[in-house]
Amino acid sequence: MNQTTTLARQELADAVHTALQRWHNGQDDDPLTRLALNRQLLRQGGVTARQASQRLLVDALEQLAATNHEGALILRLHYLDDRKVYVIANQLALHEGTVNKKQREAIAQLVDLIYAQEQAACERLRTVALARLEPPTYLQLFGVEAHVEHLLAQIMAPGPPWLYAVEGIGGIGKTTLADSLMRRALDRTPWCDIAWVTARQRLLNLGGYIDPLPTPALTADALVDALCGQLLPEAANLPRQTTAEKFQMLRSTLKRTPHLIVIDNLETVQDVDVLLAHLRELADPTCFILTSRHNLYHEHDIHHFAIPDLDHAQALALVRFEAAVRNLPAIAAASDAELTPIYAAVGGNPLALRLVVGQLHVHSLPAILHDLATVNSRKVESLYTFIYRRAWDNLDEPGRRLLLAMPLTDSLGADLDFLAAVSALEEDELRHALDALVMLNLIDARGALQHRRYSIHSLTRTFLQEQVAKWQTSPLL
Ligand SMILES: Nc1ncnc2c1ncn2[C@@H]1O[C@H](COP(=O)(O)OP(=O)(O)OP(=O)(O)O)[C@@H](O)[C@H]1O
Ligand SMILES: [Mg+2]
Repeated sequence: MNQTTTLARQELADAVHTALQRWHNGQDDDPLTRLALNRQLLRQGGVTARQASQRLLVDALEQLAATNHEGALILRLHYLDDRKVYVIANQLALHEGTVNKKQREAIAQLVDLIYAQEQAACERLRTVALARLEPPTYLQLFGVEAHVEHLLAQIMAPGPPWLYAVEGIGGIGKTTLADSLMRRALDRTPWCDIAWVTARQRLLNLGGYIDPLPTPALTADALVDALCGQLLPEAANLPRQTTAEKFQMLRSTLKRTPHLIVIDNLETVQDVDVLLAHLRELADPTCFILTSRHNLYHEHDIHHFAIPDLDHAQALALVRFEAAVRNLPAIAAASDAELTPIYAAVGGNPLALRLVVGQLHVHSLPAILHDLATVNSRKVESLYTFIYRRAWDNLDEPGRRLLLAMPLTDSLGADLDFLAAVSALEEDELRHALDALVMLNLIDARGALQHRRYSIHSLTRTFLQEQVAKWQTSPLL
């Protein structure tokens, strides 16, 4: 269920009551310290958590005095000045019973005031947090719900792991999943502290063009700057701060309250090991969600989540939805049998599916499918370049040979013996090539350890039929 405040109304009432009773012998576990209002005061610095919750009560009492002067006075005298009820009754010329009654009413009004302020503070935090995310690239998502719930449950559970990697081939929906995850976290807990840092260097827009982005390469120092810019804007502007000093400030913030931080497109980071070492120092209780085209299997403390392809039904639902949004009613109403060739050609890759639908404005479906298989259009070539080019250029000879042999496997995949036979690679080379291809998410490894089966995405299969032959002769531009 979504919450709009850190504490429900009744919890807040109990917390205010307890905090007033403990005014003179407060403890560190003061329940008001959980409030977003309290966190805001802490951020401004110069106060402890307990002092912040006392300030919060004093401010609320002042506001109450504007509408209920006598009630606010009774609360002050009783709790802050530690006067007994009969003393207050004497001072105000009231019966003790009346003082008790007025005190109960005043506490209820005080709670209402703080509750309204807390709601507004949560909404403010949520707005600030949402502004740190990129605008969503989607209107509706398919097949993501279960992944979001699964990952969020893991992330919100106390304790490690602190690092999560969302992995998969280009266009499979890594950024989208990370984005939905953050939005869901903010729906559940609007006061949740989040940050988003992107290392993305290129973008394939839905018109089929590759846009280079002005993002500089993400180094460990640049990461610290980016996170300070979002989470500690006041520190980021302090003159002559060394990166080490900024890092320490950031570390104490991230250690004090748990944050959720996404680092998108980790595969473009030059020195991943250095960056990961920094993240490990910043993590716990803060969680980092990394997205990467490359698997980070060799890292021991990372929870891996490989995004599966959309299945047949989800892929067709996405195609129909896109068609409806783009005002292509004939495609939106087409039968499964008519749309299934799209799925057969590009599989469950959302980016490729969306691009195919985009082209249906201009071209017929058979023409597009033919283009995909023969790389007969610039848009298709851009898609393949965007998804596969860098990975292909980084492969050595055995890696390329094995990948080129993969179309000989069927959709269920093949075992090691079959791959050895069709690639004609020696066992050592084959294992090395498999490691590289699995790491690059070009080959999926599934099944039990003893009976692993290796398969490729439909889009990879279609791509291998034609485009790669051209790259074997021409260098990367
Ligand atoms: N489950 C989904 N349902 C509908 N559309 C989706 C889904 N997942 C992703 N998309 C859309 O597909 C496109 C590609 O998704 P996204 O950018 O998240 O891929 P990616 O894996 O991050 O790619 P890259 O490796 O290039 O960073 C986007 O336009 C996104 O809106
Ligand atoms: Mg991405």
